[in-house]
Amino acid sequence: MTKQIISFTLLLLTGIFSLQAADSKPIRIGTNDIDLILKIGDNGRLYQSYLGERLQSEADIAFLKQGKEVYLTHGLEDYFEPAIRVLHNDGNPSLLLKYVSHENRKIDDNVTETVITLQDDKYPVEVKLFFTTFAKENIIKERTEIKHQEKKPITLYNYASSLLHLNADHYWLTEFSGEWAHEANMTERQLDFGKKIIDTKLGVRANMFCSPFFFLSLNQPARENEGDILMGTIGWTGNFRFTFEVDNLNGLRIISGINPHASEYSLKPKTVFSTPEFIFTYSTAGTGEATRNFHNWARKYQIKDGLADRMTLLNNWEATYFDFNEDKLIDLFGEAQKLGVDMFLLDDGWFANKYPRSGDHQGLGDWEETKDKLPNGIAKLVEEANAKGIKFGLWIEPEMVSPKSELYEKHKDWVIRFPNRDEYYFRNQLVLDLSNPEVQDYVFNVVDRLKTENPGIAYFKWDCNSPITNIYSAYLKDKQSHLYVDHIHGLYKVLERIQKKYPDLPMMLCSGGGGRTDYEALKYFTEFWPSDNTDAVERIFIQWGYSYLFPSKAMAAHVTSWGKQPLKFRVDVASMGKLGFDIRTHEMNENEIRFCQEAVKNFKRLSHVIGNGDMYRIVSPYEKDHAVVLYTDQAKDKAVVYAFDMHPRYAEILQPVRLQGLDANKRYKVEEINLMPGNHSALECHGKTYSGDYLMKVGIPLLSSSHLQSHVVELTAE
Ligand code: DGJ
Repeated sequence: MTKQIISFTLLLLTGIFSLQAADSKPIRIGTNDIDLILKIGDNGRLYQSYLGERLQSEADIAFLKQGKEVYLTHGLEDYFEPAIRVLHNDGNPSLLLKYVSHENRKIDDNVTETVITLQDDKYPVEVKLFFTTFAKENIIKERTEIKHQEKKPITLYNYASSLLHLNADHYWLTEFSGEWAHEANMTERQLDFGKKIIDTKLGVRANMFCSPFFFLSLNQPARENEGDILMGTIGWTGNFRFTFEVDNLNGLRIISGINPHASEYSLKPKTVFSTPEFIFTYSTAGTGEATRNFHNWARKYQIKDGLADRMTLLNNWEATYFDFNEDKLIDLFGEAQKLGVDMFLLDDGWFANKYPRSGDHQGLGDWEETKDKLPNGIAKLVEEANAKGIKFGLWIEPEMVSPKSELYEKHKDWVIRFPNRDEYYFRNQLVLDLSNPEVQDYVFNVVDRLKTENPGIAYFKWDCNSPITNIYSAYLKDKQSHLYVDHIHGLYKVLERIQKKYPDLPMMLCSGGGGRTDYEALKYFTEFWPSDNTDAVERIFIQWGYSYLFPSKAMAAHVTSWGKQPLKFRVDVASMGKLGFDIRTHEMNENEIRFCQEAVKNFKRLSHVIGNGDMYRIVSPYEKDHAVVLYTDQAKDKAVVYAFDMHPRYAEILQPVRLQGLDANKRYKVEEINLMPGNHSALECHGKTYSGDYLMKVGIPLLSSSHLQSHVVELTAE
């Protein structure tokens, strides 16, 4: 026996570790409709007995089989992917976790936290599993804490947030992957024996190629309104990994967490390693219900100011790119005012003097206004915008540095780069090392200084255009494998400080389009930018993909000139998200301007339905050349339907669209809105009143075989 084991045995005898006798009562982690039931085996280890629809009778729980171990470790009798792998001081690479105790804490009527403590019986290593349940929304969050009292650091090689077991005949996985300007494409595949991994190794801008969420359908391909679905996401802004492994008995395990790739973590005694949260729902009524669970939960509990209204805006990025000056911007404020939006957002290109930001090749890091372009600074812009009755927002990218910048010249030691190799760039820039507290202060101060000097800045768009290249931190010295993890914790420290000092400051999470789309970041951001691709047809697909997990108010959607669709089509697509414009009004005629003004008014008037209501995906663009989406307020008194014809075939035969989510017993007046001035609705249902029953059983004709046609229909219960 090593000295360490002897001293641990002594600790046990003296009762410092209060290991209790295994309690045979199951641990029920439930919401209104879901049950996750854990049992303690005779061997003292913790097993997952059930995950699925809530069991009606408590007495039946006794019949459940023990199942598989909850937080599987490496080195014992399991031959598949573990949740945790640890190397002890004495070279032993195994862990055997036994149940010690658990505790339920009722946070309020809806939220409960269950904490289960597990402990190795030979080594002083403790693992705590945290489950938070949201009863009404049917959401469960899970995370893990690892701590030990060995003499020297232990090494963590794997440290999952969660491991869930499912048992079915067949498993169908849907993932969301793509590229810049082509984000969140959905692909569904059947899982057979072996592993499927969805992961990212980009460090930051981590979701450029794949999004940190998925859904899994049992026994059949996923359907919108029926079938068992597990939908999950990881709250982590860096490298993540989901492992789906089907074993020899056709059991599926889903392991979610930080990607352990190149990230073994040396954990000092008595310090806690805390994983991010895996957040999931389970629905027996298909992806539609799972989506509504996520939306309701996210607005209430996760997204910054989730229940508040969002600001409509005019952004200058696609309207001007880097080519602007004070006069041009002041003109644009007038255009924002004309459109009737709440805010003007100034994008990239306003800063740096020694290396002015005239393109994307220089200037990041030098956050002073470029004197030639903006001789009177941001202060003048805020003043002019406010004088026109609109707010002023500003683009920043504070985690990055251009090699051509004064910051780089002064502080190479703050940059993630190898001291002895050539530098490799993505978009001509490098990432600052947020594991270093000095760099955290610097990034916080970018926001703090701008806000202190210009308290009128009402909004930030926080961009992040480069993944981590040249992975080396001067600060971390011999702990290089901590960089991916510590960098993201450093980012959270900065965001936390900003949140504390400026709790009411709305911010957009942007990362070269949709490179950052996770729920942990969204604690600090009111919305995210799903894609630089603003072609309206492409956006129907991109917003459709993100809609599985994110409510419309969290998805910024701007009208631009990227796509050549009719303006009405582009505005209607953007109105399904958080409406904004990236376009010059002088490119529009009077009719088009009046149309946009009306659309902005409609969007604001209906934001409680579109932003806070329940979403129903009715016609999928993945299945037809059309798309239909409906939002209804929770009382089912008001609904808004968006219907799009993209590129249908000639003389396509189309059935009426059967609506969903209405109250069958209410009568709804149907009115088409967002019409071009002077145009009358061509919809035969316009102006008529139908029962919800009829609208859902028979439906109304909303689609046509015309190219690039759209309709927005408002339903009002009488
Ligand atoms: C990438 C963003 O996605 C764009 O919207 C824009 O802000 C540019 N960066 C600016 O460089």
